[in-house]
Amino acid sequence: MFMKFIENVPLAQYTTFKIGGPARFFCSVSDEKQLVEAVKFAKKKKLPIFILGGGSNVLVSDNGFSGLVIRNEMRGMGGAGSGNIIASAAGENWDDLVKYTVEHNLCGLENLSAIPGTVGAAPVQNIGAYGVDVSSVIKLVRALDTKEMKFVEFGNKECQFEYRDSLFKKEKGRYIITAVSFELTVGGKPNISYRDLREYFAGRQSHGSEPKTEKISLFNPLNWFHARNDKADLVVRKYEPSIADVRDAIIEIRANKLPDWKHWGTAGSYFKNPVVSREKYIDLKGKYPELSAFEYGEKMKIHIAWIIENVCKMKGLMAGNVGVYDKQALVLVAKPGAVASEIVSLANNIMKCVKEKTGIELESEVQWVN
Ligand code: EPU
Repeated sequence: MFMKFIENVPLAQYTTFKIGGPARFFCSVSDEKQLVEAVKFAKKKKLPIFILGGGSNVLVSDNGFSGLVIRNEMRGMGGAGSGNIIASAAGENWDDLVKYTVEHNLCGLENLSAIPGTVGAAPVQNIGAYGVDVSSVIKLVRALDTKEMKFVEFGNKECQFEYRDSLFKKEKGRYIITAVSFELTVGGKPNISYRDLREYFAGRQSHGSEPKTEKISLFNPLNWFHARNDKADLVVRKYEPSIADVRDAIIEIRANKLPDWKHWGTAGSYFKNPVVSREKYIDLKGKYPELSAFEYGEKMKIHIAWIIENVCKMKGLMAGNVGVYDKQALVLVAKPGAVASEIVSLANNIMKCVKEKTGIELESEVQWVN
């Protein structure tokens, strides 16, 4: 079958920001053969390529993209060999895959529930949420190397994963991901260490799973809190949520914190949380005692939303058709009619304020397409 290359296709409809001008050429590919054909077309015409997945982490310029946009529509997912390995084509919807793994009692992806986008985009960005980065469970990434025009497979280490970063982002444009496999744990115990999840489960009895009772020792000071609350028998009733419970919790937490994609244009967090040295963090803590951070190897990953909200006072700020979301200051939102330049200008104002108050240069998490 011949492939169709359509000219001047408006891209706003393909992005969750719902912003952006047209693509010079646009095509959809549903298998690796078509992908090769599309890349050859672009090479022949000396056009740059942009791979479109769910369009959930991109901001397309108002002038559009003067190359070939390839929409990845490769489908298919399932077990690959042993019971805990799941493989998926890159064009699958990310959350469909998460749902599938939870339904098959495979632990590892449940904290990444309800993230918009495709499976192929997950390794590029090393998507992460609620204490889990996808790099912790990726086994293999299959991709077309557009330089050598051959398919290659990368093991986890070779993907050079970092916080919201990978080989596929560093060598921008070289590799086009076609499939990803994940190594999960059959019936594993979910990770509920992230604050939002701890608070969620502390406040309610998890449905579906029975409370476990545990005898505690009063020699450990950490247990004194429980002891004070349960002097009678010194037995703690602990709810251990199942992976399905965790998925439900994440869906609920995200719905309360992040904008409804149906009403707002958005790409989720617009900025990365900056990673700084411990000295720099201590210095900032001196100035802003309530600022919190996560350990990140030797360094600290700062919750920069706190600065945008409490120091820059920009949370909830609207500027024309765009604004800083009023429930999460890292998230920028756009009303219908918004243009890319409005987002860029708002983002620049935030970056300027953060730089002035902290000395930190914020990096965008969202990919700029022009
Ligand atoms: N905070 C504020 N004000 C805000 C929001 C957050 O002060 O408006 C502070 C609070 O102290 C809060 C802390 O920042 O406890 C962390 O907030 P949150 O849990 O919302 O996480 P985040 O660091 O702001 C990251 C990811 C999100 C992901 C959440 C949850 C990045 C850039 N963003 O945000 O990912 O959902 O953690 O795990 O790492 C995305 O990448 O698009 C995205 C939404």
